[in-house]
Amino acid sequence: MSSSCTHATGVIGSDGVLTATPERFEELKSYLATLNITDDKEHNRGLLIPALRKAQDIYTFLPESVQLYVADAFKLHLSEIYGVISFYAYFTTEEPGKHKVSICCGTACHVKGATSIWDAVAKTVNLPKDTHTTEDKLFTIERVSCVGACGLAPVVLVNEEVYGQATPEQMAKIVKEIKDAETK
Ligand code: FES
Repeated sequence: MSSSCTHATGVIGSDGVLTATPERFEELKSYLATLNITDDKEHNRGLLIPALRKAQDIYTFLPESVQLYVADAFKLHLSEIYGVISFYAYFTTEEPGKHKVSICCGTACHVKGATSIWDAVAKTVNLPKDTHTTEDKLFTIERVSCVGACGLAPVVLVNEEVYGQATPEQMAKIVKEIKDAETK
C-alpha cells in the first residue's frame, strides 16, 4: 500500500481509477447510497462483501482508490477492506487484461494436463513470472477450480468460449490468433 492510505472523507487514493470514468464512479456512488450504512461498524461489515463484489463488477478490479472510497463510505479502515479482498480469491487488485483465459485446475483437469496448458499459454503471451496479466494488458490468465465439466477435462475458457479436451498446442494457437489480431 502506498502512503496515500489515509482514512478520511474525500481521500480518493493515488491511482486515479476511481474517478477516471465518471459513469463508473456515479454507478458506485448510487449503489452505495442504496445501502443501509449506519454508524454501527459491525452492521456495516455485514454489507461489505456484496458491496465489494459490486465495486469489482463496476471497475473489473479493486484498485486502492476504490478500496479507499468504499472504506470511507463504510466508516471502516482501509486495512479491513484490504483484509477482505486478500482473503477471497474472487477479488483482485490487479487490472485484468482485455482477454481472460481461465484454466481449470481441478483434479480431473490437473490429471489430464492443465499445467502443460498453462505453460503453453503463458509462454505464447509472454506472461511475466508470478503474475497473471501480461504487460501489454491483453491477457489475464487464471487458474480456476472445477468448472463442473470433468468429463471434458482438461477444460479451458477463453473469454466466454469453453474448450473441452483442450491441448497445449490448441490453446497456444488460439491465444496466438487473438494476440495477432490485437497487434495487427
Ligand atoms: S476438474 Fe476441471 S472441470 Fe472438473
